[in-house]
Amino acid sequence: MGRVIAVANQKGGVGKTTTAINLAASFAAAEVKSLLVDCDPQSNSTGGLGLPRDPERLSTYHLLMAEAEASQAVLPTELEGLNIIPAHKNLIGANLELVGADEREFRLRNALQPIRDNFDFIVLDCPPALDLLTLNALAAADSVLIPMQAEYFALEGISELLDTVNRLRESFNPSLEIEGVVLTMYDDRTNLAQQVTQELRNYFGDKLLSTTIPRNIRLAEAPSYGKPALIYDVRSRGAESYIRLAKEIMDRIGGTPVSVAQDATTAAQPEPELAPAGTNSQEN
Ligand SMILES: Nc1ncnc2c1ncn2[C@@H]1O[C@H](COP(=O)(O)OP(=O)(O)OP(=O)(O)O)[C@@H](O)[C@H]1O
Ligand SMILES: [Mg+2]
Repeated sequence: MGRVIAVANQKGGVGKTTTAINLAASFAAAEVKSLLVDCDPQSNSTGGLGLPRDPERLSTYHLLMAEAEASQAVLPTELEGLNIIPAHKNLIGANLELVGADEREFRLRNALQPIRDNFDFIVLDCPPALDLLTLNALAAADSVLIPMQAEYFALEGISELLDTVNRLRESFNPSLEIEGVVLTMYDDRTNLAQQVTQELRNYFGDKLLSTTIPRNIRLAEAPSYGKPALIYDVRSRGAESYIRLAKEIMDRIGGTPVSVAQDATTAAQPEPELAPAGTNSQEN
C-alpha cells in the first residue's frame, strides 16, 4: 500500500509546495509510482506542474464533497510515473461546506483508500493553515513532512503544528508519524543558519533530515514553466537536493523497519511533541 506523506506547516511560504512537487517528482524519477494531491485552494502545485486553470476539471474539492472517485480525478503529468489530483479555488469553500458534515475529517482518507495500492508514494500539499483541509490531509496520512526555514522564531509555530499532530494521533489517526523536518531555502554559510540548525537538531533529534534544500533560483523558476526542477534543470543544486531528499526518505523507510527506527528514536530522546514548546530560539 502506498505511503501517504502530508507536507504541512501552517506558516506560509516555507517551501511546502516546492517540496511537494519536487519530492513527488523525485520519487517518480526513482521509478516508484507517485501521486501528488493538491489540497490547497491556491492550487500552486497544480499550476506548478503546468495544468491550466479549468473550472470543470475534477479536483480535490470533488473528493472532499464525495462527488467523485479519486480514480476519476487522477491526471498524468509530463514526467512518467508522476500523477496529480489537482486543486481548485472553490476548495476554500470546502472548509465551510463541510462544517456539520458526516466524517468531515475523513473525507480525503476515504476518497484515497481505493487508489492507495496504485502508488508507492502519495504526497499531499497542504495550505498554510491548520484548517479542515490540513486536518483531512493529516487524517489521511501515514506521516507528516515539515518544511522549515532555519531562521529565528523557526520553532515558534511548530509547537502548534506538533500539538495538532498529537491531537490527530489521539483521535483520528493513531499511527501518524513524523517523517521528518526538512530545512528549505538553506544557506549553510551563515552562522545564523548553523546556530538554528544546531538548535533544531537538539529539538528534533534524528527527525531533522540530513538533506537540506539550498536556496536555488531554478527551484523558484521551474513552476512558471510548469515543470518539476528535475525536468527544468536536472543539474541544478535544487533538483539534486530533492533527489537526495527522496532517497533519504526511501532509505529511512526501507533501510530499517519503521517500528525499529521508531523505538530507537524514542529511546535516544523524547519525541519532539513531548519536548517543551520550543520558544527559546529567539534568544541566541
Ligand atoms: N529552495 C528554494 N530556493 C529558492 N526559492 C524557493 C525555494 N523554495 C521555495 N522557494 C520559493 O519561495 C516561495 C514560497 O515557496 P512555496 O510556494 O513552496 O511555499 P509554501 O509553503 O507552499 O507557500 P504557501 O504557504 O503559500 O503554500 C515560492 O516563490 C518558491 O518558488
Ligand atoms: Mg504552497
